Amino acid sequence: MVSLAVEICGLKLRNPVMPAAGPTVRDGDALVAAAKHGAGALVAKTVSVRPAEVPRPCMAKIRDGLLNAELWSDLPVERWLQYEYAKAKKTGLPLIASIGYKPEEIRELAPRVEKAGVDALELSTHYLGHDPTPMVEAIRAAKETVTIPVFVKLSPNVLDITEFARAAEQAGADGLVAINTLGPCLAIDIENAMPWMGGPKGYGWLSGPAIKPLALRCVADICRAVRLPVIGVGGISDGRDAIEFIMAGASAVQVCTAAIVRGPQIYGLIADEIAKFMRIKGYESIEDFRGIALRHLPEQPLRTWAKPPEVLATKCTGCGLCEKHCIYNAVRVVGKIARVDQGKCYGCGLCVSVCPTRAMRF
Ligand SMILES: Cc1cc2nc3c(=O)[nH]c(=O)nc-3n(C[C@H](O)[C@H](O)[C@H](O)COP(=O)(O)O)c2cc1C
Repeated sequence: MVSLAVEICGLKLRNPVMPAAGPTVRDGDALVAAAKHGAGALVAKTVSVRPAEVPRPCMAKIRDGLLNAELWSDLPVERWLQYEYAKAKKTGLPLIASIGYKPEEIRELAPRVEKAGVDALELSTHYLGHDPTPMVEAIRAAKETVTIPVFVKLSPNVLDITEFARAAEQAGADGLVAINTLGPCLAIDIENAMPWMGGPKGYGWLSGPAIKPLALRCVADICRAVRLPVIGVGGISDGRDAIEFIMAGASAVQVCTAAIVRGPQIYGLIADEIAKFMRIKGYESIEDFRGIALRHLPEQPLRTWAKPPEVLATKCTGCGLCEKHCIYNAVRVVGKIARVDQGKCYGCGLCVSVCPTRAMRF
């Protein structure tokens, strides 16, 4: 029997897939939709002491990603406290309220949000800089004023994210969320020579598949640096992506861009795909495979000599993708089977990564 249930800081989730703070959780109705479509817990849009004045346009799809110039919620905090959180709470799912940003704002907001009945806080950090002090002070402000768990969402726009993770742990955070969007970035609409984003300097922040490798690296590094539970976020679009984050040590995942592009059904779909993978592999719980890839991330290179891949004749369809991708001219499809010239092979691995049937392996 496969169980997707996870427990993080006392929050009981029916599955490890939740929305990330963003427009898909902009109010109570949107949160209810996420619950109906299979999310395991809810995270609401970041709220601050004042409603945000959001620049427009504020979203553009670019190759492999999404640029946004959205800020925090444009709804007044009072409305969240009176209506929106309560609506989301009726779903029965754990509700995490995202709040921002400065320590004094957190000190004011945190106890009011806790009183509204949410189950945990997520502190959104979204600044460029190498000094964790503002984050540490925000965590202290929250921990001094509430009793519910406090998660901290880390920005990738820093020199060493593990330094921030360690500082957050020392300051008393209960869990970490990684990562926020990457940037600032720029995209120009060449039809009118204008930036796609309507914010200052046309800047936007990158999310979606383009940032997934960065997010995954951050999660793996953080999981090796601290003992806190980590929620992975960044470019997750399907079950396989979510499984990668769990194998890198994440206890759960969040999804924003894929839910914007494909709708709230994505949460349940991802959860179903994780369950299917677990059945195939014989895993009974998320803990069975959480962090199992970490032991294969060596401090030293695996090797610095070439090892040509082997070809499994029973799996090779002779499609020729490996041959097309081999810049060393070492792979040829002969008689519908890929063959590797050991003398020419550099051992780069590109052919193994593109093989659609996994017929090539080291
Ligand atoms: C349009 C948009 C709005 C966002 N708003 C917030 C926000 O209010 N607070 C926050 O912490 N993160 C916000 N994010 C960041 C996401 O929660 C998430 O960390 C990031 O997009 C990476 O995940 P993804 O690739 O699944 O989108 C926003 C992202 C997007 C695309």
